[in-house]
Amino acid sequence: MCGIVGYIGDKYADSVLWTGLERLQYRGYDSAGMAVISDGELDLRKRAGKLRELDESLRQHPMRGAIGIGHTRWATHGEPNQRNAHPHTDEDRTLAVVHNGIIENYLPLKRELQERGHLFESETDTEVFAHLVEEALEDDFLDAVRRAMQQVEGTFSVAFIHQQFPDCIVVARRGSPLIVGLGERENFVASDVPALLPHTQQIVYLEDDQIAVLRQEQVEIQTMDRRWVTPQIHKIGLSPDTADKDGYPHFMLKEIHEQPNILRRLYNIYVTDEMEIDFGQLGLDDEFLGRVSRIVIQACGTSWHAGLIGKYLLEQYAYIHTEVDISSEFRYRNPVLEGDTLVIAISQSGETADTLEGLRKAKSKFMRVLALCNEINSSIAREADAVIELHAGLEIGVASTKAYTAEIGVLGLLAMHLGKLRGILTPKDIRGFLGTLKQVPSLMERTIQQGKICSCANKFSDAGAFMFIGRSYNYPNALEGALKLKEIAYIHAAGHPAGELKHGPIALISEDVPVVCIATNSNIYPKIVSAIQEIRARDGIVIAIATEGNTEIQEYAQEVLYIPDVAEELSPLLVVIPLQLLAYYTAVHRGCDVDQPRNLAKSVTVE
Ligand code: AGP
Repeated sequence: MCGIVGYIGDKYADSVLWTGLERLQYRGYDSAGMAVISDGELDLRKRAGKLRELDESLRQHPMRGAIGIGHTRWATHGEPNQRNAHPHTDEDRTLAVVHNGIIENYLPLKRELQERGHLFESETDTEVFAHLVEEALEDDFLDAVRRAMQQVEGTFSVAFIHQQFPDCIVVARRGSPLIVGLGERENFVASDVPALLPHTQQIVYLEDDQIAVLRQEQVEIQTMDRRWVTPQIHKIGLSPDTADKDGYPHFMLKEIHEQPNILRRLYNIYVTDEMEIDFGQLGLDDEFLGRVSRIVIQACGTSWHAGLIGKYLLEQYAYIHTEVDISSEFRYRNPVLEGDTLVIAISQSGETADTLEGLRKAKSKFMRVLALCNEINSSIAREADAVIELHAGLEIGVASTKAYTAEIGVLGLLAMHLGKLRGILTPKDIRGFLGTLKQVPSLMERTIQQGKICSCANKFSDAGAFMFIGRSYNYPNALEGALKLKEIAYIHAAGHPAGELKHGPIALISEDVPVVCIATNSNIYPKIVSAIQEIRARDGIVIAIATEGNTEIQEYAQEVLYIPDVAEELSPLLVVIPLQLLAYYTAVHRGCDVDQPRNLAKSVTVE
């Protein structure tokens, strides 16, 4: 997912752009660049690779200008090299543009522009925007951008500067988030809040097909049909250090440690003093929720794993038939959605393209959609009929951790709430669940503190492959543990239901493949022990995650990582911690870039 930053004010733009791009690095990128207008001329710098590649050019020849735009590129069209890095310009290098999103009709547009004599430099879809605006430009910069937008199909958040208009930045969005930051005699634009935190708490979320003109003293917003819009100003409500590591070596480790307090926060927000569950003014009333007879959850990646745990919780406590779909499959099928079905979209970022399109598919079938989302102003949150906020705070590590446990916590509360509405659960049942849930944060803290995980990770960090197995509530955690290891330590890993071992995966057991077995207390614990013994009988390596007090397991496993005893339905909140830390320490030991793993973006806003 690309990152956009723009500035107009009294300061040197390059320093503001630089810190903004640094704060957007977590989104994942493979090249970076910036353009400023200095003494009426466009000054453009861009490099393949990380920001440090740009640093040398800026140190040798500082950019001098008080208006500029910057970009970190996560390549979609065209390989990650200097030529394809943003900003892109028209032939005469009078105009520069940065873009996040995909222009779906860029090829026909490019051919038509080339037939009209435009010369292209890059392979990107973005460059088409520069030529369209240049071609449309007469004396109204905003109108030229509007006319270019009318020709473009697809998603975009864009920022333009032009040396003929050194007093303004023109920005616009369609299907890709863009935020305007309001300052004193200065204004900003960025793809996400971290880039704005050092400068302002006052922001405006641009809506789709809105165009904004940022001047030093003023921001004006217009719709495509030329109606001026009064900006809706929001307060960010986060301190600038939210986007800092607070002394942790990586954002991911900081966010793993934040999980207990986030669960405490969720409890305090959604559980009343009378120990009842209250989601506040949901856009879906209890009368509808009480009638829901089927739930379809759709999500991607880690959020999909949370949805799988949600299935167990919703069937256990609300006895509602629940299906869980991967958004990229759900959106292209013809899902049977009818009657009292509730669709739930789970998304930390609220901008995952497939989950957003899955939401739109559901709404096209007249379904009500509930979003579980961490970004309350995101596209998914805004298009859903109701939103339950995850309150996990800014999640900057590309590998999702605190949002995952927040999603599980909210799904547990939702299951209890629906169980009550359906008359299946008594207030006593709910108080019992909440009483256990209230203990979980301190149990998470105990789990985080156990020291063995790091040594265990180091011991097996050279393995060429891992396997993760679990059952019931912790089968999804087996998938999550595998995903974490894949995405930050670059080790192939597969998660399986433990019962599936004999149906194929057992063929892979060898002394070279550590198998993480989730063997915490449950009514099917003996089944996991059977699987462990099958593995050991074939010289397999077993890393068991077990419940404190279970010493028997040490006879079967080379390594045992313990979690405190807790009700099985809440055990995923504890089990996932050794899985997160195992991946983290393995990645550190292997010298991987934990917070910005290769090829990955924090939110996949493109298909
Ligand atoms: C998780 O560690 C990954 N970064 C990724 O799978 C992520 O969970 C997925 O892209 C969904 O993102 P979302 O929750 O923002 O929709």
